Formats: sequence, structure tokens, C-alpha cells
Amino acid sequence: MKICCIGAGYVGGPTMAVIALKCPSVEVAVVDISVKRIAAWNSNRLPIYEPGLYDIVAQCRGRNLSFSTDVEKHVSEADIVFISVNTPTKTFGLGAGKAADLTYWESAARTIADVSTSDKIVVEKSTVPVRTGESLKKILTHNSKGINYQILSNPEFLAEGTAVQDLLRPDRVLIGGLETPEGKKAAQVLKDVYAHWVPEDRIITINLWSAELSKLVANAYLAQRISSINSISALCEATGADVSEVARAVGKDSRVGPMYLNASFGFGGSAFIKDILSLVYICKCNGLTDVAEYWKQVLKINDFQKSRFVKRVISSMFNTVVGKKIAVLGFAFKKDTGDTRDTPVIDVCKGLLDDKATLSIYDPQVSEEQLIYDLTMQKLDWDRSSSNQLLILSPTEMKQVHTARNAYEAAEGAHGVCILNDWDEFRELDYRKIYEAMCKPAFIFDGRNVVDPEKLRAIGFIVYSIGKPLDAWVKSIAVAV
Ligand code: NAD
Ligand code: UDX
Repeated sequence: MKICCIGAGYVGGPTMAVIALKCPSVEVAVVDISVKRIAAWNSNRLPIYEPGLYDIVAQCRGRNLSFSTDVEKHVSEADIVFISVNTPTKTFGLGAGKAADLTYWESAARTIADVSTSDKIVVEKSTVPVRTGESLKKILTHNSKGINYQILSNPEFLAEGTAVQDLLRPDRVLIGGLETPEGKKAAQVLKDVYAHWVPEDRIITINLWSAELSKLVANAYLAQRISSINSISALCEATGADVSEVARAVGKDSRVGPMYLNASFGFGGSAFIKDILSLVYICKCNGLTDVAEYWKQVLKINDFQKSRFVKRVISSMFNTVVGKKIAVLGFAFKKDTGDTRDTPVIDVCKGLLDDKATLSIYDPQVSEEQLIYDLTMQKLDWDRSSSNQLLILSPTEMKQVHTARNAYEAAEGAHGVCILNDWDEFRELDYRKIYEAMCKPAFIFDGRNVVDPEKLRAIGFIVYSIGKPLDAWVKSIAVAV
């Protein structure tokens, strides 16, 4: 059997590497239009940082796993073609800032239609709007030359930073297909691939539309839990309750469960925001305005939380950060990844730069080049209500941004330190050394509840931690929310 995956990104690369590892008899080719990305997959420095991934790629590459830019060859030879291309939020035109952009998806579908000469199972791996399978069928069969295509939805649930473990031991594998005999047969073929390592009771076969929608709903549910606890974090700060204790108490109820209840200054990443926007747009297109509003609130709380954090930082530091150096620890959207797509750190940086702070940014996996690119790229207005593109940082603001080689360098001479993602190394820093090197009073703003506020207060820091009892300094300052 030959499998080809179109799209060698955060999903296509790891997913196919694990299939190749677990199914030695299957030939797996991952193809992409990006020459740079494919070259990196074929090198010793993979294009994405993902713990454990390199070992698997090194084991399979050249055996039954290949990475290539020859899209046409590998698609035409394959029995199963996965579409794992990016489906970001549209940035212009109809549905800008809301709908999923299906440009890359359509171009992949058209390639399959153009180059195929034999029957194929085509699998939607990308996260797509519900009923995209129908459009896929139309594109594939428009000029089908008598070829039989079976379409399946097999959404991916891996999280970045834990992709390998998630793929090796998934909670579930979802296969959506049509209820026809051919559809069921195709679903069984894909099921047999996963059955090489996933227990049968974890492979769920459902209808195509349910599978497509389930992916959007799964992300919306996870994000909703974070926004729920984040909204409560604001109430905790107002009342003296501790959000970690509340989360523990509530999460102990087996009907609620403990996961995704870590309060933070806001969630980010390439999935949650775009997928909720897509869900909201689909609801609106179906005339379900109240349902759309309900889910939109998850994003509104996320924006509220990011802006609340920025206000805490500025107001605690005498309501002015002009010319003050602030260390930003963490730039990727979470630990164990170098991915900066939709990282909430950008919003905090932007908020601090608006108040004319000087930033020194450090992240173990984000290069200076990437950071500058992200901070200067075009981005949709945060209210997502217009299609206006804003330059996220002006050239003057860019002069206020510096990168540091480590956390100590970032904090040297700083007035404040913002901890904005949860890399393990941020827990283990020598905070006494950092305190000694900072301007006094020295502030720490922990946006991920990484450090123990009491231990830092004992050193002499003024500490703000999301949803934790405030110390006298922070408490005495009124913050406009
Ligand atoms: P990505 O941007 O990392 O990778 C997509 C790749 O597709 C890019 O390398 C791009 O060059 C390539 N591509 C685009 N059009 C192409 C074409 N016509 N032919 C060949 N290659 C083409 O994206 P990703 O993070 O891997 O996400 C892929 C899909 O999976 C998205 O729909 C996303 O929502 C979904 N998803 C992502 C994650 C995640 O953690 N990143 C998790 C689950 C699902
Ligand atoms: C998510 C889903 O978890 C995954 O199933 C899906 O396939 C893709 O989207 P990912 O975005 O890679 O994965 O990371 P995730 O670990 O879910 O974190 C997303 C964001 O939420 C990060 O910014 C993270 O820091 C934040 N988060 C997560 C919290 O703020 N609190 C939590 O309790 C959990």
C-alpha cells in the first residue's frame, strides 16, 4: 500500500512519521510545495521542534518514509491520499477574520483530480468546515476520468509539544465516512492502517459530517474550559480566592475532570482561535445567531484576559512603563514548541509597546528572525469585525524590541519580568540571581502560574500571578477593566 500526504507541516510530518513507524509494509510519502520545508525534513534539523520526533523520522526516512516536492508523482501513485494542508482564517474578502480559508485545501484537491489515474481514498486530515467533504467530492469528480474516489474525514487531535505521544497513544481515532457499501469499505481500509497500533475500541467510525464537526467542537470545548476558568481567575483576584484551588476543587468532580483548567493570561496557537471563529461563522451561515454568540464569548473572554494582564503590568508599575525594560520569557504559544502562530504573547508585547516599554524577549525555541517576523507581520484587527489589516508594530516600536539569549540576559537591568509560557526551565531559574540584577522594586508577572508567588515574595519581588491572592502592592492599585 502507498500513502501520500499533501502538506508536510505540524500535522502531516509527525502523523505520517508515526504511520511509517508502525506500518513498515506501507510506503509513506509526505509532499509539500515548500522546497525549504521538504529540505528541512530531509535534513538533521527538522522544520518543527517536537520532542521525540527526530528519532522516529531518522528511523523511517529512507526505509518507508520519504519527503518530496514531487507532489504529482506521489499523489498519482498513492492508494490513500491525506490532505493535511493549512486552513487558516481568511484575511480578506468575504468572511475575512471569521471563515476558514480553503485556498490551500482547494489547490490540493485540484491537484489530486488533475494527476490521478487510479482509484483513491482521499482523507481529510486538515480541520475543515462541516460538509467540506461534499465540496471535495465535487472537485474530484468534476473531471473524474472514470476514477472512483472515496472520501473520508480523519481529523487530527494531536497537541503540539506532545504530538508524538498523542499519536502513539491517541484517546481516539475518528474516521468519518459515507454510509454506502463503498464508503464503509474505505473506512475499513483506513481503520486497518491505524489498527497496527491503536486498540480497536479507540477507533471510532462515524458519519462524514459528524467527524468534520467533531473536530471543531472538540477544540471549542477545550478552549471554552480555559475561558471559563480564566473568567473565574478575575473573580478570584477580586475576592481573595485562589484559582488553582478552585480549579482543583471543581476538577475533582469526575463529571468535570481536571484537564484544561489551568488559568492563564490567554490561550493561543494555530487551532483554538481559528477553529472557534470557523464554528461561529458556520453557525451564522446556518442562521444560528444565538449559538454563534455563545461560542464567540469564548474568544471575547480570551481577549479580555490578555488585555487584563497587560493592564495589571502597566498599572502595577506606577501606570507608566515608558523606557522601562521588561523581560518577556516565552514567545511560542506554549512550552515544548517553537510555533508562534497566534501566540497570545504578541498581544501582550503589543500592549506593552503601546505604552512605550522596552522589551527583551527570550524563548528557548524561537529564533530572533522568527520573532521579528511575527512582530512585524500583517495581522487582522483583534476585534475581528473588519477586514482591515494592521501593521502590528511600527518601525519605532521595533526599536523597542530586543531579543535575549537566555532568561538572565533578558532580566538584566529590567524593571519587570513577564512569564508568558510554561517552559520547564522557567520554573527552575535562579530567581535570586534575577532579582539581584533587576531594577528595584522588581516585579514578576506570571501569566501561566509557573512560579510559587510566596517564594518569590520572600526574595523581595512584587508578584502578580493569574487568579491568585494579590499582594498588598498590586491590591492597592485600581485597574480599569
Ligand atoms: P502547516 O502550515 O504547518 O502545514 C501545512 C503545509 O501544507 C505547509 O507546509 C504548506 O506549504 C503545505 N501546502 C499548502 N498547500 C499545499 C498544496 N496545494 N500542495 C502541497 N502542499 C501544500 O499546518 P498544520 O499545523 O500542519 O495544520 C494542517 C491542518 O491540520 C490544518 O487544517 C490544521 O487546522 C489542522 N490541525 C493542526 C494541528 C496543529 O497542532 N498544528 C492539530 C490538529 C489539526
Ligand atoms: C489544541 C488541541 O489540544 C489539540 O487536540 C488540537 O488537535 C489542536 O489544538 P494545541 O493548540 O497544540 O492543541 O495546544 P494545547 O495544549 O491544547 O494548548 C492551546 C493553548 O491553550 C495554549 O496557549 C496553552 O497554553 C493554553 N492552555 C492550555 C491554557 O491556557 N490552559 C490550559 O489548561 C491548557
